[in-house]
Amino acid sequence: MDNPLFTVRGLYKIFPGANNAALEGLDLDLYEGECLLVAGSNGSGKTILMRILAGLLSPGGGTVLFRGEHLEKKLKSKHGEFRRELGIVFQDPETQFVGETVEEDAAFGPVNLGLSAAKTAERVQEGLEKTGLGGKRTCPPRHLSGGEKRRLAVAGILASGCGIIIMDEPFANLDWPGVVQVLTIIRDLKQEGKTLVILTHELEKVLALADRLVILHRGRIRDTGKPEEVLNRLRPEYGVRDPRQSYISAKDCSWLS
Ligand SMILES: Nc1ncnc2c1ncn2[C@@H]1O[C@H](COP(=O)(O)OP(=O)(O)OP(=O)(O)O)[C@@H](O)[C@H]1O
Ligand SMILES: [Mg+2]
Repeated sequence: MDNPLFTVRGLYKIFPGANNAALEGLDLDLYEGECLLVAGSNGSGKTILMRILAGLLSPGGGTVLFRGEHLEKKLKSKHGEFRRELGIVFQDPETQFVGETVEEDAAFGPVNLGLSAAKTAERVQEGLEKTGLGGKRTCPPRHLSGGEKRRLAVAGILASGCGIIIMDEPFANLDWPGVVQVLTIIRDLKQEGKTLVILTHELEKVLALADRLVILHRGRIRDTGKPEEVLNRLRPEYGVRDPRQSYISAKDCSWLS
């Protein structure tokens, strides 16, 4: 296998005053072009892991290598280069919008990276087209639906040219058409060879697109491998539900065992 994009060893994070570590000796390799699904119960450490990989939060201990180089060093010396590579779709994408219009928002990344006006316009056009937002260019981001807001966050990341995209709970608060919109984008990005990390409770929605499943529990990786194999080994204490069910009648549709 190729060298990993990220090599994480013994990653540790404890917040001041907390009784337990949020991440407790976590090891993970992330490879270029893979679609990695990270599942785990509330508070298992998914968002903290994402923030550390994205360079938004400092680890308390352990090492994070990005393309073989210490991430902290890379952020100091080549901050712009790293930002060009990795983009995040936050659980509440509304918090990441900065533009008055959809177009302006999608342009924020490329403008910040110092691209020319012509190149920015080209990237924005491409990002909005790929996410199906070409008809909403002049719309204020706050007027978009939940699914459209997530798509706009992805458009901005694409316009910045990022090849690695981390999505935190991309299906939260979406109705069925909204889930389908976001899933379609995930499928297309995967087909384009982007590296995707998806943190979610809603395994049933995206499992079919995943190359690898990681189970996080109390700040540690408890299992990782092909989704099917990990689910076959799933233990109830991890708080992750195996979504493989065949419902025949409405009465069978229950999350209670
Ligand atoms: N800023 C903070 N200060 C103190 N503790 C924090 C902070 N951020 C997160 N934590 C703690 O770290 C642990 C992991 O949080 P994290 O947000 O990563 O969980 P998660 O797996 O994303 O959960 P969820 O599924 O609810 O989104 C939790 O116990 C949380 O309370
Ligand atoms: Mg979270």
